[in-house]
Amino acid sequence: MALMDIRAWEISCTDASAESRDFRESIFSQGNGYMGVRGFRPDAHGLHPAHRSTFYAGFFEYIRPGITDMVNQPDTMYTELLIDGADADALTILDYRQSLSLRDGLLTWHYTLLDGRGRRMRVEIERLIDMADLHTAALRYTICPLDSETVVTLRTGIDGSVENLPISDNQMQDDTAFLRLLRVEQAQAGCDGGYLLATTRTSRRASVACYRVMDDRRAKRQGHRDGNRAYTQLEVSLPVGAAWRVEKTIAVACYRDGDDPYALATSRLRDCTGFDAMHTRSAAAWEALWAKADVQVEGNELWQGAVRYNIFQLIQSTPRTDEHASIGARGLMHGRYKGCYFWDTEVFMLPLFLYTMPEVAKNLLLYRYHTLEDAKESARRFSVGGARYPWMASDTGFEQCETWDTGCCEVHITADIAYAMGRYVEVTGDTDFLFRYAAEVYVETARYWQERFNYCVEDGQYHLLFVKGPDEYCGVTTNDFFTVYLARHNLLLALDAVQRLRREAPERFAALVKKTGLTDAEMAIWKRMTEHMVLHQDERTKVWQQDDTFARLEPVDVAAYKDSDEPLYCKLSFDRLQRLQVLKQPAVLMCMAMFPEAFSYEEIDAAWRYYEPKTLHDSTLSFGIHALIAARLDRQEEAIRYFEKAVLLDLRDVMRNTGREGVHLAALGAAWQALVLGFGGVRVGAGGVVVQSHLPKTIDSLSFRLQANQKTYSAHVSANAAVQLRQQ
Ligand code: BGC
Repeated sequence: MALMDIRAWEISCTDASAESRDFRESIFSQGNGYMGVRGFRPDAHGLHPAHRSTFYAGFFEYIRPGITDMVNQPDTMYTELLIDGADADALTILDYRQSLSLRDGLLTWHYTLLDGRGRRMRVEIERLIDMADLHTAALRYTICPLDSETVVTLRTGIDGSVENLPISDNQMQDDTAFLRLLRVEQAQAGCDGGYLLATTRTSRRASVACYRVMDDRRAKRQGHRDGNRAYTQLEVSLPVGAAWRVEKTIAVACYRDGDDPYALATSRLRDCTGFDAMHTRSAAAWEALWAKADVQVEGNELWQGAVRYNIFQLIQSTPRTDEHASIGARGLMHGRYKGCYFWDTEVFMLPLFLYTMPEVAKNLLLYRYHTLEDAKESARRFSVGGARYPWMASDTGFEQCETWDTGCCEVHITADIAYAMGRYVEVTGDTDFLFRYAAEVYVETARYWQERFNYCVEDGQYHLLFVKGPDEYCGVTTNDFFTVYLARHNLLLALDAVQRLRREAPERFAALVKKTGLTDAEMAIWKRMTEHMVLHQDERTKVWQQDDTFARLEPVDVAAYKDSDEPLYCKLSFDRLQRLQVLKQPAVLMCMAMFPEAFSYEEIDAAWRYYEPKTLHDSTLSFGIHALIAARLDRQEEAIRYFEKAVLLDLRDVMRNTGREGVHLAALGAAWQALVLGFGGVRVGAGGVVVQSHLPKTIDSLSFRLQANQKTYSAHVSANAAVQLRQQ
């Protein structure tokens, strides 16, 4: 693993080895929420085209009936560099340094090439994905021979021969079946630039890319089309010490942008005057984002840089202005999970946006509103009423998870979405959102729960059968605490919203009744259900039970099974794991993290003592939530230990899969929550904004901004629990 040097505003590394390549390509991924490009060096080849990926938010295609994959797009970074006719990728690399500026998103490579005759050539590459105009990107090469006059050839253009590697839901399966989802329809290149137009094979979804090249030495130029590739070749003879600069501006668009993506892409390209101009406008866009989302951590540069890296990745993976797409579990940086959206967005990543850019949180929630009709149809296919959101979603609201137990039974996602909408309304006070969108979602999802629970005549209780909780090692169980608690909350949200609508907006209430056919009778059932659900607490220990079977599972000494952070499912079968008294990730504690006011210190502490020693952290989502709870419990040592695992999860490759699987966005979101909501002690609810320091001894202070109730606050939390909270 390449060791990343983590600075307050920069991540860098000097390791150019083949072994660390995948890892570096994940860490140095760049994006702007519209597109995401892995951090590959543009002229480095050898990797399969499926690993050299570019993704566009919300761009999926069917790979079999009903199942989609996020489409790997034409490679606009395609470049080949030849030094006196020899492929530069085959030459020796010296003095390598690759760095990513968190401040403005610029990725750079600096290195020296050494050829077989001992001649050296200095190379600098800069890559930018524009944060201002989301359709554009740029690349710049600066090349300088150090020892003798050299003929340098640079080919750069667009490569449409990209492929997908659909990744199975089964983490133990080795995926090798590559698929070509795009067909190149047109490709052309001339002396100054070119374009490529492709469509997907089933739905004929269009993807367009175009580019322009400029150089400062009037190189000899020629356009080429070679199969699915269109490129411009530039050639110069460079005297010793003479630098040659070539820059390429790129614009892309697709079917999601409207009827004429070609016109859109070409007009955006015309508006780009060059690399520096794009860099300036993109840096200004980043500056505005950082003004809202930055967290300053005084006294610990490692934490500071890592926290900023987490925020940076979350921002660049989020389709901020698009209400028809969400954030994949690996963002736009990797095809793992077929690019699908999980509860990861609503529960782990959304809080950062909710508290710092509520308009972005709203768009993420609107994506769910726009897939409500599909979720209703999906519920019908599961032979129940209301709306059932998919455990894994893509551009529709239909289930994308192909594993039976998870896809059918991990149903808490439906209530997680309602929960996130509830938090959004509570924190922002946006009643228009509640009345216009959330109320309808609450009603339809409440209807789903009404039929998903089974009423038992013997005990007069509503039971939740055949359910999988967030701890996926629970098997398929009964009355999973987390799901029951969240479903009850969903019903309460529905009842409360209807009451408010009736009172505060009678016309909207009438419209809701007309649209949904809502009746008093069903609301009476929801109310009754909320009073008769099965949540068990041990009276003596105060521990809330995870489900009906957890106590009967085989107790184990976790340390005997697990001696590293590598997930245990790599060694033990799921069948065996689900009969052991171990957790993959928190479930009861997860619920307590989401509802901090609803449980006493004593209850949370009891849950910690009981569940934490049994938790394997086989999901990357686990560490940050444990850090958050530990911070709130003032268990400093544990909070620090868990926080470091979460905040450095990808940068230090804690799970040994960042290269293979991409950046784990939910884990990064959980780390943000641990820092701001845990160590910073922020709570926003009916009582307004409260900040209560749980600052660890490893840092001097924390400063950040927050938005709540349409007001902006700045908070400064320092040692000895001093808190300053100012409204701006
Ligand atoms: C976790 C889920 C998570 C999914 C995607 C799984 O391993 O158990 O909670 O939603 O990964 O990140």
